[in-house]
Amino acid sequence: MANNDDLLKKIIAHAKEYGFIFPSSEIYDGLSAVYDYAQYGVELKNNIKQYWWRSMVQLHENIVGIDSAIFMHPAIWKASGHVDAFNDPLIDNKDSKKRYRADVLIEDYLQKIEDKLEKEIEKAKKRFDNFDETLYRQTNERAVGYQKKIDEITENFAKLMNGNDLAGIKQMIEELEITCPVSGTKNWTDVRQFNLMFSTQMGSVSEDADTIYLRPETAQGIFVNFSNVYKTGRMKIPFGIAQIGKAFRNEIVARQFIFRMREFEQMEMQFFVRPGEELKWFDFWKQERMKWHHALGIAPENYRFHDHEKLAHYANAATDIEFKFPFGFKELEGIHSRTDYDLTQHEKYSGKKLRYFDPETNESYVPYVIETSIGVDRMFLAIFSNACREEKLEDGTVRTLLCLPPVLAPVKVAVLPLVKKDGLPEKAREIMDMLKPHYLCQYDEKDAIGRRYRRQDAIGTPYCVTVDNQTMEDNTVTIRERDSMQQKRVTISELNNFLSL
Ligand code: GAP
Repeated sequence: MANNDDLLKKIIAHAKEYGFIFPSSEIYDGLSAVYDYAQYGVELKNNIKQYWWRSMVQLHENIVGIDSAIFMHPAIWKASGHVDAFNDPLIDNKDSKKRYRADVLIEDYLQKIEDKLEKEIEKAKKRFDNFDETLYRQTNERAVGYQKKIDEITENFAKLMNGNDLAGIKQMIEELEITCPVSGTKNWTDVRQFNLMFSTQMGSVSEDADTIYLRPETAQGIFVNFSNVYKTGRMKIPFGIAQIGKAFRNEIVARQFIFRMREFEQMEMQFFVRPGEELKWFDFWKQERMKWHHALGIAPENYRFHDHEKLAHYANAATDIEFKFPFGFKELEGIHSRTDYDLTQHEKYSGKKLRYFDPETNESYVPYVIETSIGVDRMFLAIFSNACREEKLEDGTVRTLLCLPPVLAPVKVAVLPLVKKDGLPEKAREIMDMLKPHYLCQYDEKDAIGRRYRRQDAIGTPYCVTVDNQTMEDNTVTIRERDSMQQKRVTISELNNFLSL
């Protein structure tokens, strides 16, 4: 079986070969952690965004959407805490001159012990089944030892990170004898804090220049528009404001393909509630968001909650929805009860009141906020990696398949004349014209029909409509379903009904 690295490599290769994702600036050797979405990638990405927008904004009468600017007043990032506290601890290796996230070095070290632990557990199971008592005991003891080490390191590491103890983190790296993957040495610099925001200058002459930031989250654009939306939209609490947009973070460690990017997109929703009711709404959104994921038909065991024990200073509850990516369970979406922290901070820094007058209680207050925040690119990776398969067929051949949920597939229908003669291409074109106002369709007449089916399988097209000689006689076509490969004959007039996804 392919290991996790091989699996991820296959997914990256598939994304490139079939026109989903290209490395950015590839002809100049690329730009680290920046990617371009190609012809099918952009369709899948747009479908993900639309699917989210529809379920959040269209299906919830008390949620509206906005599209705020990427550039915002620099004071916003001071108020939100990003200028002072949006940092990662970094460390350099003096020999290779390579820079690492100090916490990631320790996490990778822990992962290696966890891998060893898993192997020992596997071995112990086999030895138990084979009644190999002595060997079973030995493996079991090793497993217990690994678990103890993991628990110790995890506990100390959490203390150091929570206490912002940079010297302690360096000491831990030295004590664990972690080496630089490039130079192989332990010649480390001190650990320093590194702010993740990109900055640039605004102003036509340099003397007027003012440092502004590329937003690291879309959420602040919602908070600073709270009053505008509440008043112009005549919103009544509880209500939400949703937004999809680009965010930028100068990630030190760029890896795992589009999982951690420097330029990415977020789909965020801030839900404003009465103070004291926030935990009820936190639970509501926790369940609601998990339902949204499950509705896409991916096996539920690929998702799990990870409740935060240590909370950010502004939160009184937080959880992640984790997905089983090719490299293990990792955060896909975050759900936070952010209290009244952001609005209160913006009141303080802007000097403007950000209050809601509650006609039911006759009170004015700063609402509390539940946030749901999911990365579009991470969602893309979750869907894409789950869908990417190789299937052995009865005739011994292997077909490459992208089992995308039909609602998200880039091309919904391919229209294929069986042969390039006898009026079949013209008939197929008529069907294309009938379907393309409703779905993104693709016409293909090149190569044998089997090869054309394979091409569509590899880009995840759920249905292929084939026009053959019988079509010319009775106006029927075959519809081939991607996953089962089963074919069904339907009349052309029934097609639209049949395909409505
Ligand atoms: N407003 C809250 C916020 O930004 P976050 O946990 O830092 O919280 C939310 O980010 C989501 O954005 C994550 O769950 C992830 O899906 C996505 N995300 C964060 N950083 C990312 C990155 N560097 N590349 C891709 N997606 C990222």
